[in-house]
Amino acid sequence: RAEDGYWLWLRYDELPQEMRSQYRGQLRQIVLETEETPTVSVAARELSDGLSGLLGRNVPVSDEGARGAILLVTGEAASLYDLDLSDLGEDGYLLRTLTDGRRKLTVIAANEDDGLLYGVFHLLRLVQTGEDISDLNITSVPRIDIRVLNHWDNLDRTVERGYAGQSIWDWHKLPDYIDPRYTDYARANASIGINGTVLTNVNANATVLTPPYIEKVAAVADTMRPYGIQVYLTARFSAPIEIGGLETADPADPAVQAWWAGKADEIYRKIPDFGGFLVKADSEGQPGPHTYHRTHAEGANMLADAVAPHGGVVMWRAFVYSENNPVDRHMQAYDQFVPLDGKFRSNVIIQTKNGAIDFQPREPFHPLFGAMPETPLGMEFQITKEYLGFATHLAYLAPMWSEVLRADTFVKGEGSTVAKIIDGSLEGHEISAMAGVSNIGSDRNWTGSQFDQANWYAFGRLAWDPAAEPAEIAEDWVRMTFTGDDGAVGTILGMMMESREAVVNYMTPLGLGHLMGTGHHYGPAPWVSELGRPEWNPVYYHKADEDGIGFDRTKSGSNAVAQYSDAVAAEFADLEAVPEEYLLWFHHVSWDYEMPSGRTLWEELVHRYTEGVRTVSGWRGEWASLEGRIDEGRYRQVADFLRVQEKEARWWRDACLAYFMSLNGLDLPAGYAPPA
Ligand code: GCU
Repeated sequence: RAEDGYWLWLRYDELPQEMRSQYRGQLRQIVLETEETPTVSVAARELSDGLSGLLGRNVPVSDEGARGAILLVTGEAASLYDLDLSDLGEDGYLLRTLTDGRRKLTVIAANEDDGLLYGVFHLLRLVQTGEDISDLNITSVPRIDIRVLNHWDNLDRTVERGYAGQSIWDWHKLPDYIDPRYTDYARANASIGINGTVLTNVNANATVLTPPYIEKVAAVADTMRPYGIQVYLTARFSAPIEIGGLETADPADPAVQAWWAGKADEIYRKIPDFGGFLVKADSEGQPGPHTYHRTHAEGANMLADAVAPHGGVVMWRAFVYSENNPVDRHMQAYDQFVPLDGKFRSNVIIQTKNGAIDFQPREPFHPLFGAMPETPLGMEFQITKEYLGFATHLAYLAPMWSEVLRADTFVKGEGSTVAKIIDGSLEGHEISAMAGVSNIGSDRNWTGSQFDQANWYAFGRLAWDPAAEPAEIAEDWVRMTFTGDDGAVGTILGMMMESREAVVNYMTPLGLGHLMGTGHHYGPAPWVSELGRPEWNPVYYHKADEDGIGFDRTKSGSNAVAQYSDAVAAEFADLEAVPEEYLLWFHHVSWDYEMPSGRTLWEELVHRYTEGVRTVSGWRGEWASLEGRIDEGRYRQVADFLRVQEKEARWWRDACLAYFMSLNGLDLPAGYAPPA
């Protein structure tokens, strides 16, 4: 079962003797000191199955018997053990080892069943990774309320930007056939704290809102519920016309408002815990309030009013990318949304991509973060690697996400990080959200490659705790997924931690962006210049010519830097001060500009592209050293994908450098000639 990766990080294979012996006196049986609800049942079963597998002996759920007991405790029972649950909220939990005479009790305690389930998965993780649990004292509370996957899945089972097969949602067979895979999906998500899933694509039509599909969605929701996962749907703004028989979708029209309110009632009758709507409006051809000369706020509020009586939310996307963008695509979302700050209902979250363009291998943080203090902003990360080599390239994304979460907006002085804006603490918001565009599909290994599982995993862990360390998350994942062998763990971890920077180097170093083949976004095409709209062409982003390269976003150019707080704007606008990794994002720089390394800009670019290839080549040897220490099936697939990645890293390097040389007329610096 390890061979194809189906079990993700939830492999419960027997641990080696030297790892499991430490748990001998502990973890013998599971005792419920809580009401046995569906969630408690799945939690207890997961713990029993997991520990029985890992420890190679039956760890049953029993009625009593304190020897080696693991107690699952909620509510008042906590006082029996002197546990204070008051700061745990709905999803938090405690893990404690209590000593009763010579016996040890392991306690998982929470206010709510979902917290218990998260605590169970935490304990399992500790055992899977061989941690000492003899004196546990862990309190864990998520920083973000809504930790949600966004499936860009269509009802015909194609997946927009999906590289892992078809959609896992088998609409044809729903609601009568529940693919067992849905349960494994729910388990995997619950194990990393994900508590919501948007089933449909942001570009979906309105069909999913028709009665037969609401039945199907309800069946999925029933399967997700015991795992603490709420279901959400995308709401196509023109649905009242397309499926409602109205002539308009104008949010100010009472008939339109009544239609949405009725639709919400209908959904909530079938799915009482329905999460709400995700909306892409007035972007890339999607309908929206602008058609009726209404604002995003008027559009969002209408939907918010429809779901508010049921406790639902609206996640309204800030990814607006439309034709009326004369100067710089970078500036569009800020220009449209900042004037609306304070105008949204309290159950609206503005879901904002990490950067202002579109999920590039590296982007500075989006200037909207910090610029709408009266509005909860949610983070949208892309787990699927649309711009980072699809499923074949190894790119562990937690370092990229963490870089954005830790970025300092300075909007309220030093320490005003993006994470604090997202979690609501900087401005005191009630709701908070982090969304990840899913990389899940029907492939046996779920994500199209072994290593892309790590990105799903890391997304959940960072949504729970945006301050979590990417390397620690990766190490847990490697130990749970591949092996507990320290040497092998070190090798794999090293590759993962280098990987994002390697991709940046061989694709878009020094702040370049969007050089990918247009449309599909795979492979280099920096020369493309003839497409209908300026921002569809890579030349728009790099602006390379005979003299230099880069997008001037300072005062002498688009002045997008002015959308950041003064401190950040000053740094980005200053050629000497701007972090090297954003240099060409904000400046048009001459080829002979002297870099901190002493190289010219051109030499530095060549150096970065070359480094990217070199790093990937190195991994092939490192991975080969693991042959026989990783099961054959997964070993082979990774080895083959690394060969693809190396070949394509060279393709990127050679294509980009050759193209730039055709403009600047420069040679490769000595020592850098790419091998034939
Ligand atoms: C990108 C992506 C599209 C997607 C869009 C979005 O532009 O290429 O496929 O629909 O983002 O986030 O809405």
